[in-house]
Amino acid sequence: MESVHTGSPEWEAKAQAVLPPSLVPDLAYTPEVAAETAHLYERVARVIPPVEWPRFAPYVKAINDLKQVRNAVVLAHNYMTPEIYNCVADVVGDSLQLAREAAKADAEVIVQGGVHFMAETSKLLNPDKKVLIPDLRAGCSLAESITGEDVRALREAYPGVPVVTYVNTSADVKAESDICCTSSNAVRVVESLGAKRVIMIPDEFLAKWVQTQTDVEIITWKGHCEVHERFTAEELRAYRESDPGVKIIAHPECPPEVIDEADFTGSTSSMIKWVEDNQPSKVLLVTECSMSDNVAVEAPNTEFVRPCNLCPHMKRITLPKILDSLIFMKEEVIIDPAVIEPARAAVERMINLNH
Ligand code: 13P
Ligand code: SF4
Repeated sequence: MESVHTGSPEWEAKAQAVLPPSLVPDLAYTPEVAAETAHLYERVARVIPPVEWPRFAPYVKAINDLKQVRNAVVLAHNYMTPEIYNCVADVVGDSLQLAREAAKADAEVIVQGGVHFMAETSKLLNPDKKVLIPDLRAGCSLAESITGEDVRALREAYPGVPVVTYVNTSADVKAESDICCTSSNAVRVVESLGAKRVIMIPDEFLAKWVQTQTDVEIITWKGHCEVHERFTAEELRAYRESDPGVKIIAHPECPPEVIDEADFTGSTSSMIKWVEDNQPSKVLLVTECSMSDNVAVEAPNTEFVRPCNLCPHMKRITLPKILDSLIFMKEEVIIDPAVIEPARAAVERMINLNH
């Protein structure tokens, strides 16, 4: 269905065709909406200025109401903007946490606040549920860097070497793999195979970081995250020179010379935990921009330095699009039946390893 401006008369007419008129939200910021969402605003007041809340609050209320009607849950990755992450999400986390929670979801509908490969993972683990992604164009440069055919060619080039695949890939690629991994369990997954050599795809930098943590020889691919590859060691050194007390923590999708400058490296959830555990007075999170906002909500004593690299794919997911998802039940994630079983097996092998 073609999108029309949320709240316009045309949109209202379309919404009334699929919902009883009493359930079509009017999206005005009324005193009732303000009162009903006040407890949620309190949570985000440190990162969302009061002048912006009237724009978000009607959507927050409408989405939370419609989740009940549709028996839906919203899963939100740590890179979602704070009004999504804090005000409409039922589950938040890194890729591994979202995959695990997706496996447990008992709602009929899952709305993925994240990018397409995450929604595919949710669908693989919930084949009988409707999985919706608010914008089908929310892709990922890593997922786009490799195809199933590329994996078959790698297997021919390295016969008998097992393939470990980062979850940031299409179902097609997962289907050609022995096991999946995320940035929070990659070392453990690689070592679980008992092999001397593994092929680890598609993130060259994650693979290089894992190589520093294990004796298993790692053969990799040339995929990069378009957000993390933009950070440079020079810029981090400049931050440290201007403030020697700043703690720098980096995601393993960053280039090796950037990781070398960091005080800690880990997945998005490990970065959050590091800030919680260490309570630094000033920290620089070398990762997608919204993470700092979401961590700042829970860390009132920490100042965040924000070198702002946004993921354009993650930022396609907005409150109006989540609302449209729930009203029009779009965009449904469909996976080629030929790849569902082998792709699910690769994800489940990873999840089972963590039990
Ligand atoms: P995490 O698994 O660490 O959340 O990373 C996912 C991602 O896309 C990072 O760019
Ligand atoms: Fe992909 Fe990078 Fe965006 Fe994560 S931040 S979804 S790895 S492009």
